[in-house]
Amino acid sequence: MSKKIFIANWKMQLSPAEALKTAKDFVRTFKDFKGIAVVCPDFLSLAGVAKIFKNTPLLLGAQDVAAFERGAYTGEISALDLASYDTKYVLIGHSERRSYLQENDKLLAAKIRMALAQKIKPVLCVGENAAEKKQGREAAVIKAQLKGALNYLPNHGVRSLLIAYEPIWAIGTGLHCDPEKALRVKRTIEELCKRAGLKKTPILYGGSVTANNAADFLIPNGFDGLLVGSASLKADSFKNIVRL
Ligand code: 13P
Repeated sequence: MSKKIFIANWKMQLSPAEALKTAKDFVRTFKDFKGIAVVCPDFLSLAGVAKIFKNTPLLLGAQDVAAFERGAYTGEISALDLASYDTKYVLIGHSERRSYLQENDKLLAAKIRMALAQKIKPVLCVGENAAEKKQGREAAVIKAQLKGALNYLPNHGVRSLLIAYEPIWAIGTGLHCDPEKALRVKRTIEELCKRAGLKKTPILYGGSVTANNAADFLIPNGFDGLLVGSASLKADSFKNIVRL
């Protein structure tokens, strides 16, 4: 069985000083960890966290990446520079970026391409909102999001893609998705990936994950990992999800 992947998304919740302190707590807590634990700090803290994580079992992730390699793109962060800090994963198309920053499929595909070119694993986030859930349109929404991004990508280039199913209504609300329902969506995603020629695409669940519900998503034939927001802001609570 392959190792589960646990990703901490710190979003914009911590100041750089708090992020560096928390990173040090993570290193102490995860010093003998043998699994895959990834932390995505904010960009201002990334270089500092990279230094703290050096020669530890913890991996560095980013919350976003530019859709361009280098040049006159004010405010953007290049995959080249993320790679130079040993960034291993990058979140692409988190629902907060899709909705607040109007990120679209074409842009997300370009970001995936940039990440892959630097051997950074892209984690494409998909998920339905509350209204779409009410209409029972989960599968249709996810299909459109996946197809939308994959249409712009050559098959051979996306072997290292990961997908995170994050129902928008479950993010930061304390209302996690019923695990059985989430697993049905996972099977839909698997089917779509297969049809798109993608093999072995790890599929993660995210949305109000806590130590109390994490195991329900990680049952045999369950999700390949978890993407965690609020409960990843403290080493101890993330540790309880990872079950050290
Ligand atoms: P919460 O775990 O706080 O619901 O956030 C989930 C998320 O958006 C992770 O990317």
